[in-house]
Amino acid sequence: MAKAIHVRVPGTSANCGPGFDCLGLACSIYNDLTLTLTEEPGLSIDIRGDGARIIPRDERNVVWRSVRYLLDKAGHTEWQGGRLELVNHIPLSRGLGSSAAAIVAGLKAANVWLGNPFNRHELLQFATDIEGHPDNVAPAIYGGFTSSISQDGHVECLTFLPRYRMRYVVAVPDFPLPTKKAREVVPQEVTRADAVYNIGRASMLVGALCKGSERYLRYALDDALHQPYRAKLIPGMYEVFAAAKQAGAYGASLSGAGPCLIAFVPENRHCADDVAYAMQKRFADFNVRARMLNMRLDTRGAHVINERPQADADAKTATVDQPQANADA
Ligand code: HSE
Repeated sequence: MAKAIHVRVPGTSANCGPGFDCLGLACSIYNDLTLTLTEEPGLSIDIRGDGARIIPRDERNVVWRSVRYLLDKAGHTEWQGGRLELVNHIPLSRGLGSSAAAIVAGLKAANVWLGNPFNRHELLQFATDIEGHPDNVAPAIYGGFTSSISQDGHVECLTFLPRYRMRYVVAVPDFPLPTKKAREVVPQEVTRADAVYNIGRASMLVGALCKGSERYLRYALDDALHQPYRAKLIPGMYEVFAAAKQAGAYGASLSGAGPCLIAFVPENRHCADDVAYAMQKRFADFNVRARMLNMRLDTRGAHVINERPQADADAKTATVDQPQANADA
């Protein structure tokens, strides 16, 4: 009986304000993949949840392409076809790492299928090669916060956990924003003043998270490199940031390339619901309808849920529920 590999991958929020293309965090919202490979050609892709109506179910599918990428890297040519079951909870094209999750899910499941020939660092390298930048794929693989660098095609990533518990309150606007479009508006060159602005805040952010110095987050989530240019694509962006802060958040930033906005909220002040309400209401002033997510940090990253015979997998995946927010640091 054929086996099936069931993996779960968290959504991610890249940039974290000043860390454009470098910083990222994993949050407690997940996509699931159950993979079976066959020696006969032929592909069957079943998709439920977010994007089910528009994600390709053929050779163009990003999860499948990532599976194939890993099989090629491992030099395995005997697996010609496959069956994929996707259960998606991460909003598509909204800035919560749906594309990174698809890539990581395909790589991770294929790696497990082959008996784990590659370690996580190698998976990070592959995922970055496919995605083009490491800031979403790194936290999707490792969980927690990640600081990544990429040079001459080689990627390195430092993972860390903040010293205090936070809630990550995310406003998900009802319109998608293609990453390509959101990157086109960001200038290729920046002034020294803007570079210094971001270096100071990005380093202060990492230090404040690791050291537990909460009060610095008030300043450390601001950015001069991408958000000012992307603001025109997201009506009310800075006003929603201000509303989140006013309601008790440390601060807020664009999540990845947007259009999601993410507020960093102290858990011990129990104000996450107030922050969510304030953000949603302020967005509405600009005619943007947004649904709200209240998440924790994911600290596991991509992981295996189960390896089991196919018949059993059929029964189980039909009832996979979105897991509750996982325990944070
Ligand atoms: N760092 C990327 C950006 C994340 O802001 O464009 C989106 O993939």
